[in-house]
Amino acid sequence: MHPHPLKAELARALSRLTYGRWGARGKVIFASAGFEAVEAALKTALLATGRPGVVAFEGAYHGLGYGALNATHRGEFRSPFRRQLREFARFVPFPLAAEDGDTASGGSGSGALAGSGGDLATAAVERRLRQVLSSGRVGAVLVEPVQGRGGIRVPPPDFLSMVRRVSEACGALLVLDEIYTGFGRTGRWFACEHAGVVPDVICLGKALAGGFPLSACVGRAEVMDAAWPESTGEAIHTSTFLGHPVGCAMALAQIAEIRRLRLVPRSERLGRLLRRGLRGLGREWGGLRLAARGLGLMAGLELCRRDGCPATEETLAVIKSLLQEGWLCLPEGEASNVIGFTPPLTISERQLEAAVRAVGRAVADAAGKRPVSGGCTRRP
Ligand SMILES: Cc1ncc(COP(=O)(O)O)c(C=O)c1O
Repeated sequence: MHPHPLKAELARALSRLTYGRWGARGKVIFASAGFEAVEAALKTALLATGRPGVVAFEGAYHGLGYGALNATHRGEFRSPFRRQLREFARFVPFPLAAEDGDTASGGSGSGALAGSGGDLATAAVERRLRQVLSSGRVGAVLVEPVQGRGGIRVPPPDFLSMVRRVSEACGALLVLDEIYTGFGRTGRWFACEHAGVVPDVICLGKALAGGFPLSACVGRAEVMDAAWPESTGEAIHTSTFLGHPVGCAMALAQIAEIRRLRLVPRSERLGRLLRRGLRGLGREWGGLRLAARGLGLMAGLELCRRDGCPATEETLAVIKSLLQEGWLCLPEGEASNVIGFTPPLTISERQLEAAVRAVGRAVADAAGKRPVSGGCTRRP
């Protein structure tokens, strides 16, 4: 209602950092949690296009509020609440980069979950996407440039530009969820810059304020203007704490610090080091198969058994022993068999190398033990 100067300053800074660098201008809706930024983006798409449908991707994680949950794919989060969901999202497959080592842009392919190679995988998804969009009822295509909670899944390099092209042709907005990947995490300010793709709306959170609950939905100014009517007294979308002054001050300081310490190129360089280290652990350990992948300082190590089943127990055992040594990693992926590495962008090379050695020890340990449960029925 009465925006304080820091809020206006941060809105300008975010516009400059996103659309300003992409040859346009952005407008911002602030929020507190990541899922709220996603919901603001979904509302924007509905208002701008008049279409209620959303296309999201298999494996997607967009948060757990009732709006965002409709577009979060993972069953364990949705099923207890399904009776209260409106299910307005349709899901299409998320293709995976072929295992081809690091690309020129700093990207990296995936291992056991790899698709049939970039072009083929992207072409198959394009057909499916066009099919779903042909209904004419979809207003937003919502996508993570790299799936985070879904298992650090990196798509083929041509995937995002295909999604951009197809959504535009079909009259849907492209909404990028960069809550996980934003602010240098993948070796670019925003992961979409690896593909040279400019979204209609971008969702930001997590590292935005370096630890304060602040998120933002930033849209191209024309899209935001088309969507949101001028207030006639009551804002149709608002929240008590949105754009909190402390959060805004932290975000401005955080952006300045990322610049000052040149953390974005650092993330790309250290990301290569991390992936090289993880690949250096080898592909087979006892009964375990390892596959490392990632982009910048967002890396994943997938653990499968010889038969291709997810090695969930072993993965959790590795994460537990890493924790005992003082290293924090999270299990990612539907089967929790991917160790997610998202260190602070300020981590030193020595710390990274020490972390990789600790992973090696923990994996060797886990591979030496017999798994408690039997094989899976479903392949990863
Ligand atoms: C890509 C992505 N989108 C949205 C969210 C939800 O953010 P929050 O937990 O702040 O609601 C997350 C959280 O992990 C995420 O990774």
